[in-house]
Amino acid sequence: MSAFTCGERAPGFVYRGRGPGELHAERVPLARLAQKFGTPLYVYSATAIRERYAAFDAAFGAAPHTVCYSVKANSSLAVLRMLARLGSGFDVVSGGELERVRRAAPKAPGRVVFSGVGKTAGEMDAALKARILLFNVESESELALLAARAGLAKRVAPVALRVNPDVPAETHPYIATGLREHKFGVAMTEAERLYDRARDERRLQVAGVSVHIGSQITAVAPFAAAMERVAGLVRRLRQRGHDIRYVDAGGGLGISYASKGEAEGGRPSSDLDGDFAAWVAAYAQAIVGPLRGLGVHLLLEPGRAIVGPTGALVTRVLYVKRNGNKRFVVVDAAMNDLIRPSLYGAHHEIVPVVRGAADVGTFDVVGPVCETGDFFARDRRLPEPREGDLVALLDAGAYGMPLASNYNTRGRAAEVMVEGSKARLVRRRETVKDLLRVEL
Ligand code: LLP
Repeated sequence: MSAFTCGERAPGFVYRGRGPGELHAERVPLARLAQKFGTPLYVYSATAIRERYAAFDAAFGAAPHTVCYSVKANSSLAVLRMLARLGSGFDVVSGGELERVRRAAPKAPGRVVFSGVGKTAGEMDAALKARILLFNVESESELALLAARAGLAKRVAPVALRVNPDVPAETHPYIATGLREHKFGVAMTEAERLYDRARDERRLQVAGVSVHIGSQITAVAPFAAAMERVAGLVRRLRQRGHDIRYVDAGGGLGISYASKGEAEGGRPSSDLDGDFAAWVAAYAQAIVGPLRGLGVHLLLEPGRAIVGPTGALVTRVLYVKRNGNKRFVVVDAAMNDLIRPSLYGAHHEIVPVVRGAADVGTFDVVGPVCETGDFFARDRRLPEPREGDLVALLDAGAYGMPLASNYNTRGRAAEVMVEGSKARLVRRRETVKDLLRVEL
């Protein structure tokens, strides 16, 4: 942990009202949304998204930069539209994500960077046609294919190589990416040879250096270490005559998933948490510092830091049961709706939507899917939920809905965007009919 913590809770979710209070998204009671749209239900706070984007952008101040929000974190069109209106660019990793950006914001492709180790020819063609800002190329073979596709399309592809700085970052092994043995990027030692090779391709235009060391990183030192190495590479490449205008610092800034009680503090929804500003300022300094004097245009690919705390998954308690010494709360959301606890052992705070005077007990909170791995929490201390109660899983705005699946033939949840006292359904609940439609 650095001197700053990454602690903050979205201003969007607070208890309001008389007595112990009811959990609201901004001005709207979650219970009312559950009633109207059913559960499980993803609810987002538009104000929180906007404030977090603005804080992130402001932290980079006068340094020439473009925020390219990482679409994979939450790819809902409603979220993309909002961010595009704020001037955000986008980081995409598939033709599908590019198409989402085009739908949400037809003029945004000029601010799109395309990352990923497995771009197909078809995806390259679509990105060339859309005239995106930058291809983050991750291998020599990809460089060759991109040159060939650009030739066919009679376009010039602006490229950065994603280099692997070999910087360890403390995070879950599934989402650390910056080590030599990971599948991402090209080795630093190979970079110069590959840049020279790219220069020999008429249809490629060397434009930048790109890096991404992992996700949910909760200290800023690894970012600074990666940037030191990138800065060194930029200097060496320029000496070889390469025109490096962009440095893409990737994403990865972590958030706090721990309980901090803010949701109970009744903080006004418009009050951006001071901690986030300090945390993102420390991050900006770690990134900008090593690049000082290089005169590059910085690209940033935050996902989770923008949207993570701005969403909650609202679910209803179906059953409370005891097996042996354990007590289970079976809710109507499952690992197919939010896979982070099952996949990474991730912690999401679980809070009652309507607070009462219930005793606190120890429970496993689980879903209906037929896997022991289908849990949201194990041995968690919670106010005793009763059957029919609503609970909210907090900090579910990033990597919640985009990782949802149809396992057990469960339709995916609906999504609601709240702004002030208004709520809008932005994605309807998937029906079994929707699921069966594509099968022959
Ligand atoms: N840029 C690149 C090249 C990435 O691979 C990623 C995330 C990002 C940006 C955005 O990272 P962020 O700012 O959100 O940390 N499903 C996992 C996270 C996977 C992250 C994959 N790459 C989770 O739920 O924790």
